[in-house]
Amino acid sequence: MRRGNRIIHAVIIALWCVIISYQSYGEEGAVNATVHEKTKHTREKVAGGRRAVDPASKPDVFKYYSGEKVLLAKEFDRTMPSLRNVLMGDVAVHDARLTLNDLSYILYHTNGITRQAGGLGMKYYFRAAPSAGALYPTEIYVAIRDVEGTQKGLYYYSVKDDALYLVRAGDVAKEIIDSSGTEVSPELISALVIFTGIAHRTMWKYGERGARYVSLDTGHAAANNVLIGNALGLTVRVNTHFNAASVAHALDVNINEEQPYVITALLKNKQSIETKGNVTLRSDTGRGNGIALPPVRPEGKTELDNVIRDRRSQRVFSGERISLHTAADILFNTAGFLGRASYTRSIWDDGTTMPLRLYVIIHNVETLKNGLYEYDPKAHALHSITTADLEGPLSEACMGQRFVGKANIAVIKTISTAYLDKGEHAYTDAHIIAGALGENAYLAAESYGLGACGIGAFFDDEVNQLLGIDPAQETVVYITAIGAV
Ligand SMILES: Cc1cc2nc3c(=O)[nH]c(=O)nc-3n(C[C@H](O)[C@H](O)[C@H](O)COP(=O)(O)O)c2cc1C
Repeated sequence: MRRGNRIIHAVIIALWCVIISYQSYGEEGAVNATVHEKTKHTREKVAGGRRAVDPASKPDVFKYYSGEKVLLAKEFDRTMPSLRNVLMGDVAVHDARLTLNDLSYILYHTNGITRQAGGLGMKYYFRAAPSAGALYPTEIYVAIRDVEGTQKGLYYYSVKDDALYLVRAGDVAKEIIDSSGTEVSPELISALVIFTGIAHRTMWKYGERGARYVSLDTGHAAANNVLIGNALGLTVRVNTHFNAASVAHALDVNINEEQPYVITALLKNKQSIETKGNVTLRSDTGRGNGIALPPVRPEGKTELDNVIRDRRSQRVFSGERISLHTAADILFNTAGFLGRASYTRSIWDDGTTMPLRLYVIIHNVETLKNGLYEYDPKAHALHSITTADLEGPLSEACMGQRFVGKANIAVIKTISTAYLDKGEHAYTDAHIIAGALGENAYLAAESYGLGACGIGAFFDDEVNQLLGIDPAQETVVYITAIGAV
Protein backbone atom coordinates (compact mmCIF):
# COMPACT_ATOMS: atom_id res chain seq x y z
CA MET A 1 0.00 0.00 0.00
CA ARG A 2 2.76 2.40 0.95
CA ARG A 3 4.63 1.45 -2.23
CA GLY A 4 1.45 2.13 -4.23
CA ASN A 5 1.15 5.47 -2.53
CA ARG A 6 4.73 6.29 -3.40
CA ILE A 7 4.14 5.62 -7.08
CA ILE A 8 0.98 7.78 -7.09
CA HIS A 9 2.98 10.40 -5.18
CA ALA A 10 5.73 10.39 -7.83
CA VAL A 11 3.21 10.69 -10.65
CA ILE A 12 1.44 13.55 -8.90
CA ILE A 13 4.70 15.41 -8.31
CA ALA A 14 5.53 15.05 -11.99
CA LEU A 15 2.07 16.28 -13.01
CA TRP A 16 2.19 19.14 -10.55
CA CYS A 17 5.57 20.21 -11.89
CA VAL A 18 4.16 20.32 -15.41
CA ILE A 19 0.87 21.98 -14.44
CA ILE A 20 2.37 24.95 -12.73
CA SER A 21 5.13 25.72 -15.19
CA TYR A 22 3.07 28.25 -17.03
CA GLN A 23 4.28 31.18 -19.00
CA SER A 24 2.88 33.57 -16.48
CA TYR A 25 5.66 35.74 -15.31
CA GLY A 26 7.14 39.12 -15.87
CA GLU A 27 4.15 40.78 -17.50
CA GLU A 28 4.58 44.46 -18.28
CA GLY A 29 2.02 47.05 -17.36
CA ALA A 30 0.80 47.07 -13.80
CA VAL A 31 2.61 50.27 -12.76
CA ASN A 32 2.70 50.32 -8.87
CA ALA A 33 1.90 46.64 -8.67
CA THR A 34 3.59 44.91 -5.79
CA VAL A 35 5.82 41.96 -6.42
CA HIS A 36 3.02 39.87 -5.02
CA GLU A 37 0.47 41.23 -7.44
CA LYS A 38 2.79 40.63 -10.37
CA THR A 39 3.47 37.05 -9.38
CA LYS A 40 -0.12 35.98 -8.84
CA HIS A 41 -1.26 32.98 -10.81
CA THR A 42 -4.36 33.75 -12.85
CA ARG A 43 -6.36 31.73 -15.32
CA GLU A 44 -5.56 34.27 -18.04
CA LYS A 45 -1.83 33.78 -17.56
CA VAL A 46 -2.29 30.04 -17.56
CA ALA A 47 -4.28 30.26 -20.78
CA GLY A 48 -1.33 32.21 -22.19
CA GLY A 49 0.65 28.98 -22.35
CA ARG A 50 3.27 27.02 -20.54
CA ARG A 51 6.60 28.43 -19.60
CA ALA A 52 9.21 26.51 -21.51
CA VAL A 53 11.59 24.75 -19.18
CA ASP A 54 14.45 22.75 -20.58
CA PRO A 55 15.23 19.89 -18.17
CA ALA A 56 18.79 19.86 -19.48
CA SER A 57 19.35 23.33 -18.06
CA LYS A 58 18.08 22.49 -14.57
CA PRO A 59 20.45 24.13 -12.09
CA ASP A 60 22.48 21.88 -9.84
CA VAL A 61 20.94 21.63 -6.36
CA PHE A 62 24.34 21.40 -4.67
CA LYS A 63 27.35 23.66 -4.28
CA TYR A 64 30.83 22.22 -4.19
CA TYR A 65 33.65 23.33 -1.94
CA SER A 66 37.09 21.83 -1.67
CA GLY A 67 39.68 22.07 1.03
CA GLU A 68 39.55 21.16 4.68
CA LYS A 69 36.59 18.89 5.33
CA VAL A 70 35.05 17.94 8.66
CA LEU A 71 32.95 14.79 8.43
CA LEU A 72 29.72 14.85 10.38
CA ALA A 73 28.52 11.87 12.38
CA LYS A 74 25.01 10.53 11.79
CA GLU A 75 24.02 8.98 15.08
CA PHE A 76 20.31 8.99 15.66
CA ASP A 77 20.07 7.11 18.93
CA ARG A 78 19.40 10.13 21.12
CA THR A 79 16.25 10.36 23.17
CA MET A 80 14.41 13.40 21.92
CA PRO A 81 11.31 15.17 23.22
CA SER A 82 8.17 15.34 21.09
CA LEU A 83 7.18 18.32 18.93
CA ARG A 84 4.59 19.39 21.48
CA ASN A 85 7.05 19.20 24.37
CA VAL A 86 9.57 21.20 22.39
CA LEU A 87 6.98 23.86 21.59
CA MET A 88 5.89 23.95 25.22
CA GLY A 89 9.52 24.33 26.35
CA ASP A 90 9.27 21.04 28.20
CA VAL A 91 12.86 19.96 27.51
CA ALA A 92 16.04 19.45 29.52
CA VAL A 93 18.37 22.43 29.24
CA HIS A 94 21.64 21.74 27.43
CA ASP A 95 24.17 23.17 29.84
CA ALA A 96 27.33 21.54 28.44
CA ARG A 97 29.55 22.90 25.70
CA LEU A 98 28.10 22.26 22.25
CA THR A 99 29.94 19.40 20.53
CA LEU A 100 30.53 18.68 16.88
CA ASN A 101 28.11 15.74 17.21
CA ASP A 102 25.42 18.07 18.56
CA LEU A 103 26.01 20.38 15.63
CA SER A 104 25.87 17.46 13.16
CA TYR A 105 22.58 16.43 14.66
CA ILE A 106 21.16 19.91 14.35
CA LEU A 107 22.31 20.40 10.76
CA TYR A 108 21.11 17.01 9.59
CA HIS A 109 17.67 17.60 11.04
CA THR A 110 17.61 21.11 9.63
CA ASN A 111 17.94 20.08 6.00
CA GLY A 112 19.97 16.88 5.57
CA ILE A 113 19.12 14.24 2.99
CA THR A 114 16.38 12.05 4.42
CA ARG A 115 15.41 10.06 1.35
CA GLN A 116 17.01 9.08 -1.94
CA ALA A 117 15.08 7.94 -4.97
CA GLY A 118 15.70 7.46 -8.62
CA GLY A 119 16.36 5.07 -11.43
CA LEU A 120 17.40 5.18 -15.10
CA GLY A 121 20.54 7.06 -14.20
CA MET A 122 18.64 9.79 -12.32
CA LYS A 123 19.09 10.31 -8.62
CA TYR A 124 16.88 12.51 -6.42
CA TYR A 125 17.77 13.59 -2.96
CA PHE A 126 14.92 14.62 -0.70
CA ARG A 127 15.66 16.67 2.36
CA ALA A 128 14.47 17.18 5.90
CA ALA A 129 12.65 20.35 4.85
CA PRO A 130 10.23 20.36 1.90
CA SER A 131 10.96 22.51 -1.11
CA ALA A 132 8.72 23.77 -3.89
CA GLY A 133 9.34 21.51 -6.87
CA ALA A 134 12.19 19.82 -4.94
CA LEU A 135 14.54 22.46 -6.34
CA TYR A 136 16.25 23.14 -3.00
CA PRO A 137 17.41 26.74 -3.22
CA THR A 138 18.40 26.84 0.46
CA GLU A 139 22.08 26.62 1.36
CA ILE A 140 23.47 26.54 4.88
CA TYR A 141 26.70 27.92 6.34
CA VAL A 142 27.88 27.68 9.92
CA ALA A 143 30.07 30.24 11.63
CA ILE A 144 31.55 28.28 14.51
CA ARG A 145 32.67 30.16 17.58
CA ASP A 146 32.78 27.63 20.39
CA VAL A 147 32.08 24.02 19.46
CA GLU A 148 34.01 21.15 20.99
CA GLY A 149 35.80 19.09 18.37
CA THR A 150 36.30 21.77 15.76
CA GLN A 151 38.04 25.09 15.26
CA LYS A 152 36.58 28.57 14.90
CA GLY A 153 35.71 29.44 11.34
CA LEU A 154 33.13 29.68 8.62
CA TYR A 155 31.99 26.38 7.11
CA TYR A 156 29.75 25.35 4.27
CA TYR A 157 27.34 22.56 5.21
CA SER A 158 27.38 20.04 2.38
CA VAL A 159 24.20 18.00 2.68
CA LYS A 160 25.43 15.69 -0.06
CA ASP A 161 28.67 14.76 1.70
CA ASP A 162 27.40 15.08 5.27
CA ALA A 163 30.35 17.31 5.91
CA LEU A 164 31.43 20.80 6.76
CA TYR A 165 33.90 22.45 4.40
CA LEU A 166 36.06 25.15 5.89
CA VAL A 167 35.50 28.35 3.93
CA ARG A 168 37.88 30.32 6.11
CA ALA A 169 39.27 30.06 9.61
CA GLY A 170 38.85 32.76 12.23
CA ASP A 171 36.12 34.38 14.26
CA VAL A 172 33.72 34.89 11.36
CA ALA A 173 30.73 34.65 13.71
CA LYS A 174 31.88 37.79 15.50
CA GLU A 175 32.60 39.47 12.17
CA ILE A 176 29.06 38.71 11.00
CA ILE A 177 27.53 39.93 14.23
CA ASP A 178 29.59 43.12 14.26
CA SER A 179 28.94 44.00 10.64
CA SER A 180 25.38 42.90 10.11
CA GLY A 181 23.43 44.49 12.92
CA THR A 182 22.72 41.19 14.71
CA GLU A 183 21.99 42.08 18.32
CA VAL A 184 23.23 39.02 20.15
CA SER A 185 26.52 39.31 22.04
CA PRO A 186 29.19 37.11 20.41
CA GLU A 187 30.16 35.81 23.86
CA LEU A 188 26.81 34.02 24.13
CA ILE A 189 27.17 32.18 20.86
CA SER A 190 28.32 28.64 20.13
CA ALA A 191 27.62 28.99 16.41
CA LEU A 192 25.63 30.95 13.87
CA VAL A 193 23.70 29.07 11.19
CA ILE A 194 23.22 31.18 8.08
CA PHE A 195 20.52 30.30 5.55
CA THR A 196 20.90 31.61 2.03
CA GLY A 197 18.71 31.14 -1.02
CA ILE A 198 19.93 30.59 -4.57
CA ALA A 199 16.83 31.94 -6.26
CA HIS A 200 17.85 30.85 -9.73
CA ARG A 201 17.35 27.18 -8.81
CA THR A 202 13.65 27.83 -8.22
CA MET A 203 13.06 30.71 -10.63
CA TRP A 204 14.50 28.59 -13.42
CA LYS A 205 11.24 26.70 -13.27
CA TYR A 206 8.71 29.04 -11.71
CA GLY A 207 9.87 32.40 -13.00
CA GLU A 208 9.32 35.38 -10.71
CA ARG A 209 6.79 33.54 -8.59
CA GLY A 210 9.68 31.28 -7.63
CA ALA A 211 11.09 34.06 -5.44
CA ARG A 212 8.15 33.54 -3.06
CA TYR A 213 8.96 29.85 -2.86
CA VAL A 214 12.59 30.52 -1.98
CA SER A 215 11.54 32.43 1.16
CA LEU A 216 8.87 29.86 2.02
CA ASP A 217 11.44 27.06 1.66
CA THR A 218 13.86 28.96 3.90
CA GLY A 219 11.16 29.31 6.55
CA HIS A 220 10.62 25.55 6.53
CA ALA A 221 14.31 24.77 6.99
CA ALA A 222 14.80 27.50 9.62
CA ALA A 223 11.84 26.13 11.61
CA ASN A 224 13.46 22.68 11.64
CA ASN A 225 16.66 24.29 12.85
CA VAL A 226 15.02 26.10 15.73
CA LEU A 227 12.89 23.13 16.74
CA ILE A 228 15.72 20.60 16.75
CA GLY A 229 18.00 23.10 18.54
CA ASN A 230 15.29 23.59 21.16
CA ALA A 231 14.81 19.82 21.37
CA LEU A 232 18.48 19.55 22.31
CA GLY A 233 17.82 22.11 25.03
CA LEU A 234 19.41 25.10 23.32
CA THR A 235 18.12 28.62 23.05
CA VAL A 236 18.02 29.53 19.38
CA ARG A 237 17.62 33.15 18.34
CA VAL A 238 16.36 33.89 14.87
CA ASN A 239 17.19 37.00 12.94
CA THR A 240 16.10 38.13 9.51
CA HIS A 241 16.70 41.83 10.03
CA PHE A 242 20.37 42.06 9.22
CA ASN A 243 22.48 43.69 6.58
CA ALA A 244 22.37 41.02 3.89
CA ALA A 245 25.15 42.59 1.82
CA SER A 246 27.65 42.42 4.65
CA VAL A 247 26.65 38.84 5.46
CA ALA A 248 27.02 37.84 1.79
CA HIS A 249 30.44 39.45 1.84
CA ALA A 250 31.42 37.49 4.96
CA LEU A 251 30.22 34.26 3.31
CA ASP A 252 32.08 35.18 0.14
CA VAL A 253 28.97 34.71 -2.00
CA ASN A 254 27.58 36.95 -4.71
CA ILE A 255 24.44 38.52 -3.28
CA ASN A 256 22.92 38.77 -6.74
CA GLU A 257 23.01 35.00 -6.97
CA GLU A 258 22.74 33.89 -3.39
CA GLN A 259 20.90 35.95 -0.83
CA PRO A 260 21.24 35.50 2.96
CA TYR A 261 17.74 35.32 4.48
CA VAL A 262 17.93 33.98 8.01
CA ILE A 263 20.56 33.70 10.71
CA THR A 264 19.95 31.52 13.74
CA ALA A 265 22.22 31.86 16.73
CA LEU A 266 22.77 28.70 18.77
CA LEU A 267 23.28 30.15 22.21
CA LYS A 268 25.23 28.82 25.15
CA ASN A 269 22.73 27.95 27.80
CA LYS A 270 23.16 28.60 31.43
CA GLN A 271 19.53 29.00 32.25
CA SER A 272 16.19 27.83 30.95
CA ILE A 273 15.30 28.40 27.32
CA GLU A 274 15.03 32.10 26.85
CA THR A 275 11.68 33.60 26.09
CA LYS A 276 11.24 36.91 24.38
CA GLY A 277 7.49 36.99 24.73
CA ASN A 278 6.82 38.64 21.42
CA VAL A 279 3.65 37.73 19.67
CA THR A 280 4.16 37.73 15.95
CA LEU A 281 0.81 36.39 14.85
CA ARG A 282 -2.40 38.30 15.09
CA SER A 283 -4.37 36.73 17.86
CA ASP A 284 -7.43 38.92 17.72
CA THR A 285 -9.61 37.76 14.87
CA GLY A 286 -12.22 40.40 15.65
CA ARG A 287 -14.89 37.75 15.25
CA GLY A 288 -16.13 37.42 18.83
CA ASN A 289 -16.20 34.13 20.69
CA GLY A 290 -15.33 31.12 18.63
CA ILE A 291 -15.57 27.38 19.09
CA ALA A 292 -13.16 26.58 21.90
CA LEU A 293 -10.91 23.70 20.88
CA PRO A 294 -9.87 20.94 23.28
CA PRO A 295 -6.42 21.28 24.86
CA VAL A 296 -3.50 19.68 23.07
CA ARG A 297 -2.78 16.00 23.81
CA PRO A 298 0.46 14.02 23.55
CA GLU A 299 1.32 12.89 20.03
CA GLY A 300 1.32 9.34 18.73
CA LYS A 301 4.83 9.71 17.41
CA THR A 302 6.84 11.01 20.24
CA GLU A 303 10.32 11.93 19.11
CA LEU A 304 10.82 15.06 17.08
CA ASP A 305 13.94 13.80 15.30
CA ASN A 306 12.06 10.74 13.97
CA VAL A 307 9.22 12.99 12.91
CA ILE A 308 11.57 15.24 10.93
CA ARG A 309 13.29 12.28 9.30
CA ASP A 310 10.00 10.59 8.35
CA ARG A 311 8.21 13.69 7.09
CA ARG A 312 7.28 13.62 3.42
CA SER A 313 4.78 15.53 1.35
CA GLN A 314 1.58 13.48 1.13
CA ARG A 315 -0.72 13.96 -1.81
CA VAL A 316 -3.15 11.12 -1.33
CA PHE A 317 -5.70 11.73 1.40
CA SER A 318 -8.15 8.99 2.30
CA GLY A 319 -10.99 11.40 3.01
CA GLU A 320 -11.58 9.54 6.30
CA ARG A 321 -13.16 11.51 9.13
CA ILE A 322 -10.79 12.74 11.83
CA SER A 323 -11.63 13.67 15.41
CA LEU A 324 -12.00 17.22 16.64
CA HIS A 325 -9.18 16.48 19.05
CA THR A 326 -6.81 15.60 16.21
CA ALA A 327 -7.72 18.75 14.30
CA ALA A 328 -7.21 20.79 17.47
CA ASP A 329 -3.82 19.15 18.13
CA ILE A 330 -2.67 19.93 14.61
CA LEU A 331 -3.74 23.59 14.81
CA PHE A 332 -2.19 24.08 18.23
CA ASN A 333 1.15 22.62 17.14
CA THR A 334 1.04 24.66 13.96
CA ALA A 335 0.44 28.04 15.51
CA GLY A 336 -1.16 27.86 18.96
CA PHE A 337 -0.09 30.50 21.42
CA LEU A 338 2.19 28.93 23.96
CA GLY A 339 2.45 31.58 26.60
CA ARG A 340 6.15 31.56 25.84
CA ALA A 341 8.26 32.24 22.82
CA SER A 342 8.37 29.59 20.19
CA TYR A 343 9.82 30.06 16.75
CA THR A 344 6.80 31.64 15.26
CA ARG A 345 6.45 34.03 18.11
CA SER A 346 10.07 34.84 18.79
CA ILE A 347 11.50 35.30 15.33
CA TRP A 348 10.92 39.00 15.52
CA ASP A 349 13.30 40.12 18.19
CA ASP A 350 12.07 43.67 17.80
CA GLY A 351 8.61 42.64 18.94
CA THR A 352 6.85 43.35 15.67
CA THR A 353 3.52 41.69 15.26
CA MET A 354 3.37 39.72 12.05
CA PRO A 355 -0.05 40.39 10.55
CA LEU A 356 -0.56 36.85 9.31
CA ARG A 357 -3.96 35.26 9.66
CA LEU A 358 -4.74 31.58 9.59
CA TYR A 359 -7.88 30.52 7.76
CA VAL A 360 -8.85 26.90 7.99
CA ILE A 361 -11.02 24.93 5.60
CA ILE A 362 -12.48 22.01 7.49
CA HIS A 363 -13.64 18.89 5.74
CA ASN A 364 -14.79 15.76 7.55
CA VAL A 365 -13.84 16.61 11.09
CA GLU A 366 -16.08 15.15 13.83
CA THR A 367 -18.49 17.64 15.41
CA LEU A 368 -17.38 20.52 13.16
CA LYS A 369 -19.46 21.55 10.20
CA ASN A 370 -17.58 21.54 6.92
CA GLY A 371 -16.67 25.05 5.93
CA LEU A 372 -14.37 27.99 6.39
CA TYR A 373 -13.07 29.11 9.77
CA GLU A 374 -10.43 31.42 11.16
CA TYR A 375 -8.09 30.03 13.80
CA ASP A 376 -7.36 32.23 16.79
CA PRO A 377 -3.95 31.11 18.02
CA LYS A 378 -4.28 32.79 21.39
CA ALA A 379 -7.74 31.55 22.32
CA HIS A 380 -7.12 28.20 20.57
CA ALA A 381 -10.53 28.59 19.00
CA LEU A 382 -12.09 28.38 15.57
CA HIS A 383 -14.40 31.09 14.30
CA SER A 384 -16.87 29.92 11.72
CA ILE A 385 -17.09 32.10 8.61
CA THR A 386 -19.21 29.97 6.29
CA THR A 387 -20.54 26.46 6.47
CA ALA A 388 -20.36 24.91 3.06
CA ASP A 389 -18.50 22.09 1.45
CA LEU A 390 -15.54 23.80 -0.18
CA GLU A 391 -13.84 20.69 -1.54
CA GLY A 392 -14.51 21.59 -5.18
CA PRO A 393 -13.81 25.34 -4.99
CA LEU A 394 -10.61 24.79 -2.99
CA SER A 395 -9.27 22.25 -5.48
CA GLU A 396 -10.14 24.59 -8.34
CA ALA A 397 -8.49 27.55 -6.64
CA CYS A 398 -5.39 25.37 -6.12
CA MET A 399 -5.06 24.98 -9.86
CA GLY A 400 -6.97 21.74 -10.02
CA GLN A 401 -4.94 19.93 -7.36
CA ARG A 402 -7.78 17.64 -6.29
CA PHE A 403 -6.10 16.22 -3.21
CA VAL A 404 -6.10 19.67 -1.59
CA GLY A 405 -9.91 19.67 -1.54
CA LYS A 406 -9.85 16.27 0.14
CA ALA A 407 -7.72 17.53 3.03
CA ASN A 408 -9.42 17.43 6.42
CA ILE A 409 -7.71 20.68 7.30
CA ALA A 410 -6.38 23.21 4.81
CA VAL A 411 -4.49 25.94 6.62
CA ILE A 412 -4.43 29.09 4.50
CA LYS A 413 -2.01 31.77 5.58
CA THR A 414 -2.76 35.36 4.58
CA ILE A 415 -0.91 38.59 5.15
CA SER A 416 -2.08 42.17 5.31
CA THR A 417 -1.34 43.79 1.96
CA ALA A 418 -0.23 46.97 3.71
CA TYR A 419 2.47 44.97 5.45
CA LEU A 420 3.75 43.67 2.12
CA ASP A 421 3.99 47.26 0.96
CA LYS A 422 6.58 47.92 3.65
CA GLY A 423 9.11 46.73 1.10
CA GLU A 424 11.17 43.82 -0.06
CA HIS A 425 12.31 42.87 3.43
CA ALA A 426 8.78 42.64 4.82
CA TYR A 427 7.87 40.62 1.80
CA THR A 428 10.48 37.94 2.40
CA ASP A 429 9.83 38.00 6.17
CA ALA A 430 6.13 37.29 5.64
CA HIS A 431 6.98 34.31 3.47
CA ILE A 432 9.66 33.02 5.83
CA ILE A 433 7.19 33.04 8.73
CA ALA A 434 4.48 31.46 6.59
CA GLY A 435 7.00 28.77 5.62
CA ALA A 436 7.93 28.21 9.27
CA LEU A 437 4.26 27.77 10.14
CA GLY A 438 4.01 25.38 7.21
CA GLU A 439 6.84 23.30 8.66
CA ASN A 440 5.13 23.19 12.05
CA ALA A 441 2.02 21.93 10.27
CA TYR A 442 3.96 19.23 8.39
CA LEU A 443 5.58 18.05 11.62
CA ALA A 444 2.32 18.20 13.55
CA ALA A 445 0.63 16.10 10.85
CA GLU A 446 3.42 13.53 10.98
CA SER A 447 3.34 13.49 14.79
CA TYR A 448 -0.40 12.82 14.95
CA GLY A 449 -0.51 10.22 12.17
CA LEU A 450 -1.78 12.42 9.31
CA GLY A 451 -0.08 13.62 6.15
CA ALA A 452 0.57 17.13 4.86
CA CYS A 453 1.64 18.96 1.73
CA GLY A 454 2.72 22.57 1.25
CA ILE A 455 0.79 24.26 -1.57
CA GLY A 456 2.36 27.16 -3.42
CA ALA A 457 0.43 26.69 -6.68
CA PHE A 458 -2.88 28.49 -6.42
CA PHE A 459 -4.84 31.15 -8.22
CA ASP A 460 -4.29 33.83 -5.62
CA ASP A 461 -7.41 35.87 -6.15
CA GLU A 462 -9.61 32.78 -6.33
CA VAL A 463 -8.30 31.76 -2.91
CA ASN A 464 -8.86 35.32 -1.68
CA GLN A 465 -12.39 35.20 -2.97
CA LEU A 466 -13.00 31.87 -1.28
CA LEU A 467 -11.89 33.42 2.00
CA GLY A 468 -14.06 36.47 1.39
CA ILE A 469 -11.13 38.84 1.73
CA ASP A 470 -10.34 41.94 -0.26
CA PRO A 471 -6.91 41.54 -1.90
CA ALA A 472 -6.34 45.26 -1.53
CA GLN A 473 -6.33 44.63 2.25
CA GLU A 474 -5.22 41.06 2.71
CA THR A 475 -3.92 38.29 0.49
CA VAL A 476 -3.05 34.60 0.58
CA VAL A 477 0.64 33.69 0.83
CA TYR A 478 0.74 29.94 1.47
CA ILE A 479 -1.43 26.90 2.05
CA THR A 480 -0.81 23.64 3.86
CA ALA A 481 -3.13 20.73 3.16
CA ILE A 482 -3.40 18.18 5.97
CA GLY A 483 -5.38 14.98 5.90
CA ALA A 484 -5.85 11.38 6.92
CA VAL A 485 -3.64 9.08 4.83
C1 LIG B 1 6.75 26.41 -0.71
C2 LIG B 1 6.28 25.07 -1.18
C3 LIG B 1 5.29 24.97 -2.14
C4 LIG B 1 4.84 23.72 -2.55
N1 LIG B 1 3.79 23.65 -3.43
C5 LIG B 1 3.30 22.43 -3.79
C6 LIG B 1 2.13 22.35 -4.60
O1 LIG B 1 1.50 23.34 -4.97
N2 LIG B 1 1.70 21.09 -4.94
C7 LIG B 1 2.34 19.95 -4.53
O2 LIG B 1 1.89 18.85 -4.88
N3 LIG B 1 3.47 20.01 -3.74
C8 LIG B 1 3.94 21.21 -3.36
N4 LIG B 1 5.02 21.30 -2.51
C9 LIG B 1 5.70 20.08 -2.02
C10 LIG B 1 7.04 19.83 -2.74
O3 LIG B 1 6.80 19.39 -4.05
C11 LIG B 1 7.86 18.79 -1.95
O4 LIG B 1 8.26 19.38 -0.76
C12 LIG B 1 9.07 18.32 -2.70
O5 LIG B 1 8.71 17.53 -3.80
C13 LIG B 1 9.99 17.50 -1.79
O6 LIG B 1 9.35 16.36 -1.27
P1 LIG B 1 9.16 16.11 0.29
O7 LIG B 1 8.36 17.25 0.84
O8 LIG B 1 8.44 14.81 0.38
O9 LIG B 1 10.50 16.05 0.93
C14 LIG B 1 5.46 22.53 -2.05
C15 LIG B 1 6.46 22.64 -1.08
C16 LIG B 1 6.86 23.89 -0.64
C17 LIG B 1 7.90 23.99 0.44
